[in-house]
Amino acid sequence: MLTNDQLAQWDRENFFHPSTHLAQHARGETPTRVITGGSGVYIEDRDGKRLLDAFAGLYCVNVGYGRTEIADAIAAQAQELAYYHSYVGHGTEASITLAKMVVDRAPKNMSKVYFGLGGSDANETNIKLVWYYNNVLGRPEKKKIISRWRGYHGSGLMTGSLTGLELFHKQFDLPLPQVLHTEAPYYYRQAKPGMSEAQFTAHCAAELEALIEREGADTIGAFIGEPLLGTGGIVPPPPGYWEAIQPILKKHDILLIADEVVTGFGRLGSMMGSDHYGIEADIISIAKGLTSAYAPLSGSIISDKVWKVLEQGTDEFGAIGHGWTYSAHPIGAAAGVANLKLIDSLGLVANAGETGAYFSSALRDALGGHPNVGEVRGEGMIAAVELVEDKDDRRFFDPARKAGWSVANALLGEGVIARAMPHSDVIGFAPPLCLTRAEADIIVDAAVKAVKKGLGS
Ligand SMILES: Cc1ncc(COP(=O)(O)O)c(C=O)c1O
Repeated sequence: MLTNDQLAQWDRENFFHPSTHLAQHARGETPTRVITGGSGVYIEDRDGKRLLDAFAGLYCVNVGYGRTEIADAIAAQAQELAYYHSYVGHGTEASITLAKMVVDRAPKNMSKVYFGLGGSDANETNIKLVWYYNNVLGRPEKKKIISRWRGYHGSGLMTGSLTGLELFHKQFDLPLPQVLHTEAPYYYRQAKPGMSEAQFTAHCAAELEALIEREGADTIGAFIGEPLLGTGGIVPPPPGYWEAIQPILKKHDILLIADEVVTGFGRLGSMMGSDHYGIEADIISIAKGLTSAYAPLSGSIISDKVWKVLEQGTDEFGAIGHGWTYSAHPIGAAAGVANLKLIDSLGLVANAGETGAYFSSALRDALGGHPNVGEVRGEGMIAAVELVEDKDDRRFFDPARKAGWSVANALLGEGVIARAMPHSDVIGFAPPLCLTRAEADIIVDAAVKAVKKGLGS
């Protein structure tokens, strides 16, 4: 068996890790962490260390680790038929069954699902479909896409542009010119002093409307947003936000893409985030929770309204020129079917709502009064602790202080994985949806110790 040192050396020499300081890692200044196993909410590394994964990988292992039902379904599919494509009407029992299961769980106006591999490619598909839609309708100018600052939609060329975080643009010549960004629905950071939440919602709506008027509604094809802002800070929308935004989009005939890569299949305590917040989208992106990451698979769920135009387009222009070799991959589809069945049979959507609410309120009770905790927020099984230097003045830490990173690192020392979110001092928690109250208590106890240790306060 290879030693840990040997693996670390090969890792430094050969492995290009995503979202990593490449130079530091190559120099061996950051550790190689080799994960070997997992069960429930725990993972284990090669040193035999057991860690409670309070971020479910990258908020994706929603059913928890070690589910033999999904592993068995993957093995059976691989033995029976590891691959066939889905071009020109081909499919497998797994891919067709999964399409039916997804549409059954989606809002009522949804009609079809296109399967890809990950959240980024789902959103690339969605933007292409918006462009195709407007070309078929004879509106070739209606192509720009509005996203929000701090939105996260992936890291491809278009999706990295939609992502409203500077880190994903810098030195990559992004965003592309077709992308516009509007106000982040992040009351705690973006509201002017004295603004109520209702006033802030009205401000977000007014900013959107002003942007549309400035650019011209006839140049804007779609608006994309996560029901709850994820990677940009884990922020539930201010009350009334989606009720205020949607009529503006409708008035200007702008399609709405709900990016449910994180919120789809139970994370908020509802099957879909769109249902949770009363969002009536034209296209919905799904990934992570679709298979709980047991195999890569994503999807674009298409509404009746958009689907009719896609059909009209193929009648006019022939077969649609879009598809990946691995679209609807049978192994991903088999994982998806087994995963969605498991979510139902274990009652994980309800548990996300109930245990999630218990977890957020325990976190708030334990840390809400701390002088360096500005806000504790959450919805269903996702929560965040926002760290501040001065709570009364709402003064944030100097980013060079790396306060969020220090606390997340201290949490790791306590045996709990949380995520220092990439663009503020926010500690994110998104545990598997099967979390128990006892496990929630372990996370909260560790968070209290880590805030103290990480900030020295
Ligand atoms: C809301 C949202 N959309 C899209 C993506 C991109 O998904 P992927 O990393 O699978 O490409 C993510 C990833 O975290 C996400 O959170």
